[in-house]
Order: sequence, then structure tokens, then C-alpha cells
Amino acid sequence: MVNNLNIINVNQKIVIIANWKCNPSTEREAENLLREIKKGIKKIRNTEVIIVPPFVYLPVVRDKILLKSKEGIWKVGAQNCFWENSGAFTGEISPLMLKELGVEYVILGHSERRIYFGETDEVIAKKLKVILENKLSPILCIGETKEGREEKKIEKVLKRQLKEILSPISRFSLPTSDLVIAYEPIWAIGTGDFCSPDEAKKALLFIKKELIEILPRYLSQNIRIIYGGSVDSENAKNYINIGFKGLLIGGASLIPQEFIKIVNSCNLQ
Ligand code: PGA
Repeated sequence: MVNNLNIINVNQKIVIIANWKCNPSTEREAENLLREIKKGIKKIRNTEVIIVPPFVYLPVVRDKILLKSKEGIWKVGAQNCFWENSGAFTGEISPLMLKELGVEYVILGHSERRIYFGETDEVIAKKLKVILENKLSPILCIGETKEGREEKKIEKVLKRQLKEILSPISRFSLPTSDLVIAYEPIWAIGTGDFCSPDEAKKALLFIKKELIEILPRYLSQNIRIIYGGSVDSENAKNYINIGFKGLLIGGASLIPQEFIKIVNSCNLQ
């Protein structure tokens, strides 16, 4: 156990994640978007910015823009990956391929993957295993649906998701990469109906408590728990103020001025 303490890469910087989802439509637009964002984000200290474009723009994001960054605050993430490193799996992208491309983070279990592509906690757990084996950092998304928006029901869903996805990891191997957990109430994603800081704080404390039960303590304490769901430049810093270690941003990450304001406001906290 004590040896494992030494190999954990503790990272407690605030992390702001731009999840571009299935946008923009061309590589040129992707390049311009990132260029605009980079222009407005300077002198940030304790913050990391992870750009998560569609797979096809990963090389552009990495080569043309991020590698030129001197600050070391820019990282590249992927929106999904497969649960095997290679093989006869038409249409899939493996974590090994992502790693070779310079990707460091992978979003996992996003509600849009669960809803539109039928991803279950079991599938997500399989992906988590291979992501960690490749020493990539997962950004694991969890959260309740609109129907489950009630304290007891929220706790039940979060408990189930965390247990089913995370408990296998203490059995097969202990991660040496960062672990990020994104609390994303599904009803708040893309709706403008963001979660109030009071509600979000209850979920944050509950997730912390559950992590202590599921994982070895030193591991659970080093996990960054972030918030996602209709974050904008007005509400962003409220989540950091109540203890979230970062934000997962969809819509607002496609609007450079809005995203820049979000990063800069969190960096000042
Ligand atoms: P949103 O998306 O910021 O557009 O609500 C967040 C997400 O899906 O991660």
C-alpha cells in the first residue's frame, strides 16, 4: 500500500474542460476556435485547460496549437474510446491509439453516450480499466436524470454509478494517472437549467463520502471532482467557490469569449 502512495500523481489544479462534442464541422473552424480561445487565456497559474475535440481534430489541436504552448497548462482529451487496444472492432478508436496521439484525458460515461449509444455502467467500467492500464486519465461523468431529481434518488443513482464503475479498479490495478469525476446532472446538460450551488454542494459531499468507501483513502482524496451542466461565465465561479475542482463545459466552450471569461474567472478564485 505504502509503495502505491509514491506512484500517485497528485494534481489538484483547477481543471476546465472544453467538450466540443460533435462540433465544429470543419478542421479550419476547429483551428480558429482554438486560436481564439488561446488568445484570450494568458497568465493562468493554478488552472489546466483541456481541449476535447472530435477525434478527427485531435492531431490538429495537438500539432498546430497545443504543442506550441509554453505554459504547459494546455492538455488534449478525447470524448470516448473503446475497451480494447486493438482488434476486429470496426469503427472503434482505442486508448492505445489516443495515447500515441498525445491525448492525456478521456471523457467516459457522458450522459449522451449513455442515452444515444446505450453505454451501461458495465461498459463504462470496462473502458475505465483499459484507460487506466494505458496510463491515461479518465474524466468519469455521473449524474441523475430529471425524474431522479430528488435528494434520496440522486444519492441512489450516484452510489450505484460510482460503485459499479469504480469498485473493480481497486481489484485489478491502482491507477497512476489522474482521476477526474464530473458531476453532471443530466437535466442540466445543454438546457440552461444549471444546478444551484446548494444542490451541487450536496452532491459533491455525497460523492466524496462514497469515494472514501469504495477506494483506498489516499486514492479517493486525490480525485478531482468537477461540475458540468449549463456552465456559463455568470455561474462558473460559484462551483469553484463551493469546492469543485473544475468544470466540464459543452455549449459555452464553442463561444471563445464566453469560454475565456469562464477560465479567467476560475483562475482568480
Ligand atoms: P453544457 O454541456 O455545458 O452544454 O450543458 C456539458 C456537458 O455535456 O458536458
